[in-house]
This record gives sequence, C-alpha cells and structure tokens, in this order.
Amino acid sequence: MLAAARLADAQDELAFVRDRFELPDGTVYLDGNSLGPLPRAVLPAIQELVRRQWGQDLITSWNVHDWWGLPRRVGDQLAGLMGAAEGQVICGDSTSVQLFQALVAACRLRPGRSVLLTDGSNFPTDQYLADSVGRLLGLQVVRLHPSELALHLGQHDERVAAVSFSLVDYRTGELFDAAGLTRAVQAAGAVMVWDLCHAVGAVPVALDQIGADLAVGCTYKYLNGGPGSPAFLYIAQRHQQQVELPLTGWNGHREPFGLNGSYVPADSIERARIGTPTLLSMAALQAALSAFDGVGIDRLRAKSLALTQQVIDFADQRLDRFGVEVVTPRRPELRGSQVSLRMPDAYQVCQALIERGVIGDFRAPDLLRLGFPPMYLSYADVHRGMVTLAEILADGSYREPRFAQRAAVT
Ligand SMILES: Cc1ncc(COP(=O)(O)O)c(C=O)c1O
Repeated sequence: MLAAARLADAQDELAFVRDRFELPDGTVYLDGNSLGPLPRAVLPAIQELVRRQWGQDLITSWNVHDWWGLPRRVGDQLAGLMGAAEGQVICGDSTSVQLFQALVAACRLRPGRSVLLTDGSNFPTDQYLADSVGRLLGLQVVRLHPSELALHLGQHDERVAAVSFSLVDYRTGELFDAAGLTRAVQAAGAVMVWDLCHAVGAVPVALDQIGADLAVGCTYKYLNGGPGSPAFLYIAQRHQQQVELPLTGWNGHREPFGLNGSYVPADSIERARIGTPTLLSMAALQAALSAFDGVGIDRLRAKSLALTQQVIDFADQRLDRFGVEVVTPRRPELRGSQVSLRMPDAYQVCQALIERGVIGDFRAPDLLRLGFPPMYLSYADVHRGMVTLAEILADGSYREPRFAQRAAVT
C-alpha cells in the first residue's frame, strides 16, 4: 500500500500546490474540512494591509485601496469557484448570519405558503435558524432527509415556501444531487437554499448551470480563509430585484453615504451587504483564494476521490477487525471530500491520533471525521495517517484516561 501511495505521489499533477501552504513538518493534517491550513500568500497580504494601508494611508484606504469594494471583489472570486457569473455573490459575516438572510428572503419570495423544509440531520445552526425563521414568519418547519424530498413535495407541493439543505452532509460526507433537488424544489414552486460549507472548494458546484436560487457557505474549511473568515451569500441574478433581506444594514443601501433615515436597497448584489466588512479577515481570504489559481476544480475532484478511495480501501482491509464502520458513501458520485469512520471511543481515538501528529476531528456521538483536501495532502500522508490509526486501535493506547478529557472544542 505504501508503494502504491508513493507511485501515486510521483504521478500527481497537483503535487506542486502543496508548496502554496505552510504546513508544520511531521504533521498529517486531516482536518482541513474544519479549518484549512495557512496559505503562504496570506501573511504578506495582511502585512501590506496593516502596515501600509491601515498604518500609512489610514481612512483614505477605503477609497485609495478600494476597501469598500472588497466584499464584492472577493464575492466575484468565490463565484468563480462555484460556477457562478460575477455580480451574484457577496462576502461577509458568518454562515449563520447569511443563512438567516437567505432563509427569510427565500420564504418572503413565496408569500402565502406556510412550510419551511430543512434536513433533520443538517448542521445544528441550519436547523436552529430554520426554527427561528419559522417562528418569526409564522411558518411550520418540517424536517426531512433530502432522499424523502420527492415524496414529501408530491403530497404538499402548494404549501412549501422554501427548502434548506446542505450539499454535503457534515457528518457522513454524503454528497447530494444539487441539480436534481433544485429542480424538484422549483417544480413545486418553492425556493431552494443551499448550504455549501462542506462543498465549496472540495467538489464541483455549478450554481448558474443548475439554476440555483440562493446559497450560503463558509470560507474557513476547503477555501482556507483562516479562523473565522467571512462567509458568503449567493443570490441568483434573476432574484436580485425582488429579494427582501431582513438585515437592512447601511452598507446595503442604494446610497450608503446619502445617510437617509429610511432604507432603500441597492439594486444589485450589493443589497446583501450589512455592516462594515471585517477587512483583515476578508483580505486574508482574498489572498488565500489565490492558492486555487491554475488548479481547476475538476483536477481537485479527481484527486480528492482517489484519496478518499484510498482511505476506504484501507479501512476495509485493515480496520474492519476493530469494529470500524465506513459511514461515508462508497459510490464516488455520492461522496464529498471527507471520510467518516464510526467506532467505539471515537473521541479518545481522535485525541490519541493528534498526539501522534495526525489531526482529524470527532463528531458526536461516535464518528472520527477525516478530511482529504487534495490541495496539500499527498497519498503518502494519507497512508501514514491511516497506518497510525491502525496502530492506535491495535495497541489500545487511546484507552489512557487523559485521552477521555473533553476540551471545549471537539
Ligand atoms: C453545514 C454547516 N453550516 C454552517 C456552519 C457554521 O456556521 P458559522 O460559520 O456561522 O459558524 C458549519 C460549521 O461547521 C457547517 O458545517
């Protein structure tokens, strides 16, 4: 298996991309699906912004360095990674905030309809916000799995205002059919809201081609924007004049510096701006996205599938005897860029792995979740990570009491 990994590395046409990242020696980083590593382009960009722009040019930088235009510029960069034409994505705030914006806007596009659908296994923030929007707008919130959508819509077509799903399930890594689900939702006259957190930068997303309505996502996972980097909101061009976003901050006003007492939304994607953008984080993200230059999402996808297949094969051959179950779909077309392994004591195993230099994460109650961003992982890295996991399971070292102590962030 190691020989095969080395051969695959020798033939890897994306091997050069690793050099665009700072990665600590000796660490196998299998958690880039939670927090991407540091792209080398970030530090010089932040130094320039802080030292020269902020330090020397002070407030004039809003014009001189077009700080004001950054949410739109970064939005356009993001659009390029999601198969969207320019002018449809704004960058800013957190995914949770953008979800609130998108869910309210989607439901307001369908007045008179009374149901908001979400996935009962969706990330908690998606469910909490759906519940809150339901209370706010007086809608019934129904939870169902994407696989149940067709049946449900067949029975309740006329009542559903909006549907909110994640394109990749954060626990299992299952990739859903964006085009088919969007079509089904729209055929029922409803509006589709996609959460792309675990998809953007990892799998091809063709928002314009599938006729998407609204989408949100974070940028600190596969896009490597840094801790707490700003999220994004996509609003299809055809909806931009009608959408009524709930957070009517002054940045989204048609004339922000007119300083009027009443709100008139900008008639472009700019209406999705809220308050003053977090310039430092956004500039870091802008620089981080340059790691994608000349790479191409199709090549990334091919390597990602090869890496996750390597893990599944290893688990089948070497981990089965420890009671490890591969939770992630085996069919490549149903797989994101992670593999989740169900096992007893997954938390302890994860901590023991980290101590041996292999970083993954734990998702309650029993999943070891491993991410395989193809930008900077080699096949040999993945092999080492899996061998280390097999060693820990075999020697039982994860049972040491210190590995059971729960930190605030798991
Ligand atoms: C599917 C999904 N949505 C949203 C979030 C997080 O939202 P926020 O960026 O507001 O913390 C996550 C975080 O991991 C997520 O997995």
